Amino acid sequence: MSTTESAPLLTVDNLAVEYPSKKFRARPFRALTDINISIGRGETLGLVGESGSGKTTLGRAILGLAPVTAGTISFDGKDISHATRRDRRDLSRDLQVVFQDPYTSLNPALEIGAILAEPLGVQGMEPAAARKRVKELLDQVGLPSDAINRLPREFSGGQRQRVAIARALALSPKLIVCDEPVSALDLSTQARVLDLFLQIQKDTGVSYLFVSHDLDVVRHISHRVAVMYHGEIVEQGPADAVTTDPDHPYTQRLLLASPVPDPDRQEQRRADRHRLLEAQRMQHEQAGALA
Ligand SMILES: Nc1ncnc2c1ncn2[C@@H]1O[C@H](COP(=O)(O)OP(=O)(O)O)[C@@H](O)[C@H]1O
Ligand SMILES: [Mg+2]
Repeated sequence: MSTTESAPLLTVDNLAVEYPSKKFRARPFRALTDINISIGRGETLGLVGESGSGKTTLGRAILGLAPVTAGTISFDGKDISHATRRDRRDLSRDLQVVFQDPYTSLNPALEIGAILAEPLGVQGMEPAAARKRVKELLDQVGLPSDAINRLPREFSGGQRQRVAIARALALSPKLIVCDEPVSALDLSTQARVLDLFLQIQKDTGVSYLFVSHDLDVVRHISHRVAVMYHGEIVEQGPADAVTTDPDHPYTQRLLLASPVPDPDRQEQRRADRHRLLEAQRMQHEQAGALA
């Protein structure tokens, strides 16, 4: 009996990533330490943490773009920690990515139709079938079919991100690594693109690793949330629990630092944050005095 259907789609065990130092004979820089996460089929794991905490590095390690120095990454029942180039080409059918910057992630010289047909051609799809698939994809991400003959520069940031999402969806992947995919967009566009991610998941059953520095974004999109701090996961659990009533002091600070639209609530947040920092400082001092 096969157990692969009930096993998580992605499992990361005791992962470490080290970047070689640019200085001669200097020790490598350890960007990730002992990372353990898993993502089920049709599930979204939100990955939140401040800038420089290692979120992008984790996404890149999964995609084979950052050096894995310890631990394993398993995807769909296979160990992909040290997948070869050829393995990666096959994997790209099932494992895709959407990056933050919609202005640099699309080839400016290619029309949208060609951008979307490219991954289909690489996998050997006939041109007629590819044209049909491109139309489906545009429809799926809420873009008009005449987008096919237009260039990326004719579109807004939100529309370009829709093109990037369509490209990621082209081969019906099982997992999409989304690295701050709405962070460059204004608030109302963010909300619409997040809803698109949710709708696509409902329709296709795709899983997401959804990276963001913004706790509100992560709360909205995720089933579970992992919190990264200085290259380690300090807390993970159901999205609601982690984002509204976190256990870890770092997550508590992150929560109180996230902006709220209502000025009264913002004032309350500021007061709460002040109290929390003060309490943490006193705890710290007491621990120091006891040591
Ligand atoms: N290619 C690289 N070479 C060396 N150090 C890197 C490289 N990429 C990222 N780093 C370092 O790894 C740490 C984590 O970076 P990153 O994963 O980009 O964090 P985040 O996405 O959370 O902002 C940072 O200290 C960053 O400077
Ligand atoms: Mg990043």
